[in-house]
Amino acid sequence: MAKPTSSLFTHIRGLTIVTPWLLYLLLADALLSFLLPFKLLFPNAVYNLSSRIASSVWRWIQHIFESFNGATITTSGDPLPYGESAVVIANHVGWSDFYMIQALAIRAGMLGRCRWFAKIQLRMVPFLGWGLWAMGFPLVSRNWAKDKAELDRVFNGITSRKWPTWLISFSEATRFTPKKYTESKKWCADNAKPQPQHLLYPRTKGFVTTVQHLRNAPHVKAVYDMTIAYQRGDQWQHAPTMWETLSLPQLSRSQQNGGPGYKFHVHARRFPLEELPYDEEGLARWLEDRWVEKGEWLEEMKAEWADAS
Ligand SMILES: *[C@@H]1O[C@H](CO)[C@@H](O)[C@H](O)[C@H]1NC(C)=O
Repeated sequence: MAKPTSSLFTHIRGLTIVTPWLLYLLLADALLSFLLPFKLLFPNAVYNLSSRIASSVWRWIQHIFESFNGATITTSGDPLPYGESAVVIANHVGWSDFYMIQALAIRAGMLGRCRWFAKIQLRMVPFLGWGLWAMGFPLVSRNWAKDKAELDRVFNGITSRKWPTWLISFSEATRFTPKKYTESKKWCADNAKPQPQHLLYPRTKGFVTTVQHLRNAPHVKAVYDMTIAYQRGDQWQHAPTMWETLSLPQLSRSQQNGGPGYKFHVHARRFPLEELPYDEEGLARWLEDRWVEKGEWLEEMKAEWADAS
């Protein structure tokens, strides 16, 4: 059991750091909601403007995580070309996954262009949800028949209007937990599928639909497969909670030196879109292969970190 790291001091510290950002978020969401009616008339301008607004909000929270709270994010893998549009897939461990992907988006000059698959219910949340809607987030129920109109709208912006985008989704659809891992193992055994290590078996439907549509967008050149890994002290895949990322100082200071001892790593691979299979079955198998490799990579990372500590 690791030492408790939250205290009255860190809660007050968190509130002090986060309050100005929250006020700014509220202002940004009000502004984005105000843009919503103009989407019909000036879709390109609204896309650009909303991207700028979003970029400032996200850069700020990234700054809180990395600079104020001392999170050191390490990266490895393929270089991601500056300004390139892509389909981005990743494993899902916790809230902080968002910072891992943003760290790479900032380096690639695509922070404001990140569009995340999100839950449809968010559209009902005044300002925050409307903001995401104005920005063109795909808001989905994961019932693919119901989501068709929404996806057509999102894909249309990218294919016919050539909007630069990182279209991001967590292919497992949910966060990794040991209980879900057990369920996934059972499902894979029943369905004769390979169970990837440290991961849940990916949902293939959304990925296949996305790739098939975005093939029609010549500026979308690649699929980026991101693998996210954490460690806290000697606890593998232990990510901080959202509040911890905002309130704890010195997140990456080692436990020997009295810090929480978090390690954050993201590994990126780039696959040119034209090298992916064209048929549905082939694409689903391609994603499955990525997840098996991802599991092998995670196993190596785990061993590497265990040796280092
Ligand atoms: C939006 O931004 C892109 C560059 O990212 C630019 O080429 C385009 O003209 C802009 N469109 C509008 C309507 O501002």
